[in-house]
Amino acid sequence: MELESERDGNVEQTKSTVLLDINNVVDDPEIASAIYYSLYYNMSSAIAKSISNQQRLREGYDSVSLGYGAVDFLEFQRQFVKIYNYGFHPQNNGIFIDIGCGVGNCVFSAALLHNFHICIGIEILSDLHSICNSIKENLWSREVRSLNKLKLEIDIQFKLGDALAIDWSYGNVIFVNATCFSNDMMEKIASCAENLATGSIVISVTKFIPSTLFDIVESSEMNLSWGKASLYIQVRNSMANKISHKEFIQKLLDNEIE
Ligand SMILES: C[S@@+](CC[C@H](N)C(=O)[O-])C[C@H]1O[C@@H](n2cnc3c(N)ncnc32)[C@H](O)[C@@H]1O
Repeated sequence: MELESERDGNVEQTKSTVLLDINNVVDDPEIASAIYYSLYYNMSSAIAKSISNQQRLREGYDSVSLGYGAVDFLEFQRQFVKIYNYGFHPQNNGIFIDIGCGVGNCVFSAALLHNFHICIGIEILSDLHSICNSIKENLWSREVRSLNKLKLEIDIQFKLGDALAIDWSYGNVIFVNATCFSNDMMEKIASCAENLATGSIVISVTKFIPSTLFDIVESSEMNLSWGKASLYIQVRNSMANKISHKEFIQKLLDNEIE
């Protein structure tokens, strides 16, 4: 039940009024950024993409949803601080989860930017998953010491497997870079996301979570290495997860829901 109390205790329902300035929430953003780039000094997104391509070719995976692309630290930081405007308090810990974490860049970014209790990355390709663990074991503890010892207490976990088959309903802040994800995959991600607690925040790139149980509280543009993409912030509303999307639409048509 530890996770249960974790998620309930860390998401405030009231909207906070934190200024969207990284200096207000991160002790030393310049050191955080320097540490991030030292973690990835020999793992550029081009190299990660090529490792992903090679494994997919070797193992005959042809799903478009397995396409690789990465969000840069500074852009992630620019978008990440927005969570503090939607009920997530800078002083709370909470659990961050990246659905399809690639080589773990957003997991380490989140850990550098906020003192989460746990940061989890779920990745289906084993070669990318191995890189996540290698960065964690060989670089993270050493590099992060210079920032703040609280960072060493963050439990960073990388799970190898299909994010559609792993329970991530205990997350408080979920990141989904859905640029390559098919609509079918987004429907399945939505079903998983509907199990998140009220107030949980989902940040997604390119596509949003297609579920009536999530309110889109912000949509904006994000800079990616290949151009601009839409960025959505959604908050799990308090509607009970009792009915499917289709049933919900039917009830709306039948005037059973206002
Ligand atoms: C566009 S990359 C995003 C990497 C990272 N999150 C970022 O934004 O920088 C999407 C990743 O999701 C992974 N992926 C695709 N389908 C998945 C699934 N069903 N379960 C877990 N990971 C998946 C891909 O292999 C790829 O590494």
